[in-house]
Amino acid sequence: MYADLLIHSAQMMATLKGFSTGPACGNAMSEIGLIEDGAVAIREGMIVAVGTTAEVQAGGWVGPETRQISARNRVVTPGFVDPHTHVLYAGSRENELSLKIKGVPYLEILKQGGGILSTVRSTKQATDEEIKAQTGRRLQTMLSLGTTTVEVKSGYGLTTEEEIRSLRLIKELGSEQVLDLVPTFMGAHAVPPGYSEEEFTNYIIEDMLPKIAAEGLAEFCDVFCEPGVFSVRSSERILAKARQLNLKLKIHADELAASAGGTELAAKMGVISAEHLLQASDEGISGLAKQGVIAVLLPATSFNLAKNSYARARTMIGAGVPVALATDSNPGSSPTESMPLVITLACLYLRLSPEEALTAATINAAHAIGRADQVGSLEVGKQGDVLILDIPNLNYLPYHFGSNPVGVVIKRGKVVWE
Ligand code: NIG
Ligand code: FE
Repeated sequence: MYADLLIHSAQMMATLKGFSTGPACGNAMSEIGLIEDGAVAIREGMIVAVGTTAEVQAGGWVGPETRQISARNRVVTPGFVDPHTHVLYAGSRENELSLKIKGVPYLEILKQGGGILSTVRSTKQATDEEIKAQTGRRLQTMLSLGTTTVEVKSGYGLTTEEEIRSLRLIKELGSEQVLDLVPTFMGAHAVPPGYSEEEFTNYIIEDMLPKIAAEGLAEFCDVFCEPGVFSVRSSERILAKARQLNLKLKIHADELAASAGGTELAAKMGVISAEHLLQASDEGISGLAKQGVIAVLLPATSFNLAKNSYARARTMIGAGVPVALATDSNPGSSPTESMPLVITLACLYLRLSPEEALTAATINAAHAIGRADQVGSLEVGKQGDVLILDIPNLNYLPYHFGSNPVGVVIKRGKVVWE
């Protein structure tokens, strides 16, 4: 039994085994399982051997048919996992840039019928093929930047019919292109015109959620818990119903307004992950630690909202909350597909070390979307999702920004981008 693919002679290979909640989470984030002169062998899409080049070669995995790629002078890591995106939509919102530059707040643009509601209109007007083509291009960009697994939220539909359409398109895209997609239902993304918040919350609970759960279209349910969007009370009702229907839970919490209670609700509901958390209180953070909730932080959103305010990642890690990183890729608050950019911002503004940032972008991110048994680390039995980065050492990854550090992307043992 020979491997189909052998990557060998890596200057440095980060295997990323560790993950922990609670007091050990910080140490786990710094332990990236480095192997010098590293090698990984893949057979039928799965990792069959990991170690030094000599160890893997001695294991008898290399035969005449084995394709060999040298990673000499380069760094090898698992594929990036992007655990929070709104990448399925049609249209774009560069028309809002001038408002943003003038200082008009994000929620003010939404109140005027722009923002998320503008993307809801352009998505509704687009055909399935247009939405898939536009989203497919963004997924291809993600792949070229090293992302091999991505969570995708609905939430630009806001009617039962349109939300179901979005989730079906996510499913189709998942089977038609290379990346693994993890679907999240986020009907609670904005309150559309013609509804009060309570009416729309009832509609989500009574109509959208039961139908989406019955069709098995989503693994997670997420809510934009924010004063002026969905209150803590409405968010709790939606998440409680989702849990009843066996969906796993996520929440956009304390992104914009100070101490609005979203982080506390995340702990109370025992969500898998709480996202954004820019304004999370100390009590909220210790609640997350107690419940083993993962903080998914989105520094590209902070950067792009231009508010000079970033989540308190060091406090979270110190309190025992494991941190994951995501792009939040969406047409408004974070129009980017780049995990390498997110890693740079996380080091500079969340004050993560390069090791912590890499952990947050791989194994911790995989835990945040319930995929840690399959992806997020280079371990025997996991999928062969591997990056060869054209950089001499790990510090170089956050250090040199704005260009693509990715040399080769391997998904399930196949070279899919180089
Ligand atoms: O995570 N916060 C709410 N939703 C997205 C923004 C979506 C949009 O602006 O289209 C976010 O920032
Ligand atoms: Fe988001």
